[in-house]
Amino acid sequence: MTTTFVAGPLRGELRVAGDKSISHRALMLAAVSRGTTRIEYPNRGADVLTTRDAIAALGATVDDRGDAVIVVGTKLRDPVAVIDARNSGTTARLMMGLCVGQGLNATFDGDASLRRRPMERIARPLRAMGAQAETSEGKLPVTVRGIAPPPGGQFALELPSAQLKSAILLANLRARGPVLLTGDAFSRDHTERMLRRLGRAIAFDGHEVLLEPGELVAQRIRVPADLSAAAFFIVAATITPRSDVLLRDVGINPTRSGVLDILRGMGADITKLHERDLDGEPVADLRVRYRPLAATVIEGEAVVRAIDEIPILAVAAAHARGVTRIRDAADLRAKESDRLAATTTTLRACGLEVSELPDGLDIVGGTAHTPHGELQTFDDHRIAMAIAALAAPTGPHVADDAACAAISYPQFERDWLALQNQSATRTV
Ligand code: S3P
Repeated sequence: MTTTFVAGPLRGELRVAGDKSISHRALMLAAVSRGTTRIEYPNRGADVLTTRDAIAALGATVDDRGDAVIVVGTKLRDPVAVIDARNSGTTARLMMGLCVGQGLNATFDGDASLRRRPMERIARPLRAMGAQAETSEGKLPVTVRGIAPPPGGQFALELPSAQLKSAILLANLRARGPVLLTGDAFSRDHTERMLRRLGRAIAFDGHEVLLEPGELVAQRIRVPADLSAAAFFIVAATITPRSDVLLRDVGINPTRSGVLDILRGMGADITKLHERDLDGEPVADLRVRYRPLAATVIEGEAVVRAIDEIPILAVAAAHARGVTRIRDAADLRAKESDRLAATTTTLRACGLEVSELPDGLDIVGGTAHTPHGELQTFDDHRIAMAIAALAAPTGPHVADDAACAAISYPQFERDWLALQNQSATRTV
């Protein structure tokens, strides 16, 4: 089923989908907290529903009311069947850690895309703490056999990956002694913040994480709007004349907000209003208006702080004056699709000059036009939504299958239409 995204400015107000990363963590930590957790405004995408089903398979009581999910924590038990993480890397990787730390035996599998993604990066530290973790040549299916309580101790992170960092923390929730993480610890810190909110003594400064032994006590968790979802609206509004949008309650956690800094560095008109704390996470309302952009360089720590926004930043680069250089982004090849290759294909189909490097892209901005034929989404939600933004100044763009947006944002087309304020997309 193809979807046509048309040209037109974005105007109006919106609360985009709830934060996917925070929703996964809320469900998993609620499952092992003492008491009842009410998770409000959860992300409703397929990935988070996969985590919801996984914690239920481990014995947690889950009452899903749509706009809120109520979870009663419990002593988890071995799942009777394989846990199918479907398309969700966060489910597979974080739940491997969670299961190990609760002393459970579990096998994880996923869809064809997830089966291609690296799992050894998680299995290795789990083995180092004394658990068993058997991968299939580094990939799914993976079987873990946990230890509870584990001893605690020191772990050096091999990668600046929040999934890796979180898997180790989850594996050590019941550790007898303190747990110290060193190395590349500056990835998104949602797990650390939520552990603190649930009563755990934890120190984290972007370099080290120190988790003390203790228990988790249930709290209400209101989930911010997802900056990674907001990014598609932010970029479309920035590159499309006459746009003016207000995005409410957006998470602006500094370990996640690279996209805002990068776009502002390119000249974007983004104003943070009403900055505040929402249950341990900083949020703001973001007002974004059209303004011409200049090219930039995106590398090093900036990539980690915008790891899921590189495809949409490439769309911004396509409309910026000059050549934008993206480096240090090789891990993008191991996401839901090879996002460097997918982005290159998409932009070239719109007449743009793009050089693809092993760890990045060079994008010559300013010459985008309507593509001939359909653009491929590569079954990757973030590529599908990037195509919508790419169409806003120069559409119509036909996407071969934009239904994959439902992985993180089931209401994406409805919300896009609302802000384009016309029957802008057509599904045939
Ligand atoms: C995520 C961390 C990032 C990100 C993913 C979600 C998380 O992955 O790309 O979409 O929720 O922790 P890595 O940790 O592999 O960089």
